[in-house]
Amino acid sequence: MAGGGNNTKCLTNMAAFLILQAAIILILAFTVMRVHGPKLRLGMVTVDSFSTSNDTSSPSFNMRLTAEVTIKNTNFGVFKYGNGTMSLAYNGTVVGDVAIAKGRAKARDTAKFNVTVDVMSSRLTSTASLGTDMNSGVLTLGGDAKVRGKVELLKVMKRKKSGVMDCALSVNLATRAVTTKCK
Ligand SMILES: *[C@@H]1O[C@H](CO)[C@@H](O)[C@H](O)[C@H]1NC(C)=O
Ligand SMILES: *[C@@H]1O[C@H](CO)[C@@H](O)[C@H](O)[C@H]1NC(C)=O
Ligand SMILES: *[C@@H]1O[C@H](CO)[C@@H](O)[C@H](O)[C@H]1NC(C)=O
Ligand SMILES: *[C@@H]1O[C@H](CO)[C@@H](O)[C@H](O)[C@H]1NC(C)=O
Repeated sequence: MAGGGNNTKCLTNMAAFLILQAAIILILAFTVMRVHGPKLRLGMVTVDSFSTSNDTSSPSFNMRLTAEVTIKNTNFGVFKYGNGTMSLAYNGTVVGDVAIAKGRAKARDTAKFNVTVDVMSSRLTSTASLGTDMNSGVLTLGGDAKVRGKVELLKVMKRKKSGVMDCALSVNLATRAVTTKCK
């Protein structure tokens, strides 16, 4: 038996094994174990009921919208979130809000659900520019939401993450079509 040769071979194999293991751990650290916050967006938004007045002396709007909220989880673990709120604002003032019920988005999946929100211009303190805005035929609202929760990896690792929504909704007052744009 050539003992020395075998020993060297054995050490070489061991070194190769350790290097491979380190590489696997590094790859995992940069992919699977890397935790990102979820992305909140608005999907389709429809107008259920609608009444507006673009009379320049007292412009107003009252709308009930159904909005699809999506929570995209790119992580390799489930994202569990608590109750949150979504609000719609006209020129920075909240004109409608709705609760987002706690839930979960599965690993590398997108949770989708619909919320119904009533939007009322009576919540505005000033309607100074509203008439002009409405006479342009398009009402633009900002959509904001936040959910806080945890991403669970391998059942044991939990990392706190939150997701925010930053969207703009344009309601076409003639056709009632709503287009959304999210960051
Ligand atoms: C979440 O909201 C639901 C319904 O509004 C309520 O019953 C529950 O107590 C809330 N949970 C927390 C932790 O706030
Ligand atoms: C939300 O509502 C729209 C229109 O009613 C429907 O097409 C869509 O499937 C709903 N989405 C979910 C996740 O329920
Ligand atoms: C938005 O509100 C501010 C006051 O908060 C007002 O000065 C401004 O004219 C408004 N702009 C529009 C486009 O409504
Ligand atoms: C209200 O706006 C619509 C366009 O959306 C326009 O056709 C109509 O003339 C406007 N009414 C008034 C009173 O300005």
